[in-house]
Amino acid sequence: MRLTRKAQLIVGEYLQPGGLAVDATTGNGHDTLFLAQGLGSTGRVFAFDIQARALATTRARLEAAGLDTQVQLIHRSHEKLLESLPPETHGGIQAVMFNLGYLPGSDKTTITRRDSSLAALQQATRIVSPQGIISVLAYRGHPGGQEESQAIQTAMEGLAGTQWHLSVFESPGPVLLVLAPRPHD
Ligand SMILES: C[S@@+](CC[C@H](N)C(=O)[O-])C[C@H]1O[C@@H](n2cnc3c(N)ncnc32)[C@H](O)[C@@H]1O
Repeated sequence: MRLTRKAQLIVGEYLQPGGLAVDATTGNGHDTLFLAQGLGSTGRVFAFDIQARALATTRARLEAAGLDTQVQLIHRSHEKLLESLPPETHGGIQAVMFNLGYLPGSDKTTITRRDSSLAALQQATRIVSPQGIISVLAYRGHPGGQEESQAIQTAMEGLAGTQWHLSVFESPGPVLLVLAPRPHD
């Protein structure tokens, strides 16, 4: 199974109708659509990308599915995650999905970067609900990808502890990193 699909299957377990979610790297909108479907018409998705082209593709995808009204497309870096979300949503987000790297089909010059991805991850931990989940799909084949992936994994290992459990799903290509609430007895 592709790790993009695995990420959706895992995250889907945490989506409740009417809930809130973040797509931190909207791209072509596959995960944004998935989150919108999972939360239903009363839910709300905040979807970030620094490329207008990505957001336009995503808007068209959402409109075709009739799910555009519950998604807020945000043309900003995910480094601005915390300040871009209404304060009343902080601590109430059910899922934050990251799919790092470059926009498929693009010239690969606009990519996620280690430092901004790390900043966004830290902010994700501040907006996610105690019952929520953070998933990161990290690619290692492009310049800077290995360093970004390693830094994110190290940061997520540091975050895992009493509150969260880290699951790592390896593949010859990307790695999927998932921080989910640690089950209590
Ligand atoms: C691998 S693609 C995401 C694919 C997407 N999840 C989908 O389902 O189609 C990565 C995206 O991250 C975006 N990106 C790069 N740097 C970013 C940043 N600092 N903040 C938000 N998005 C960024 C790129 O423009 C690109 O569209």
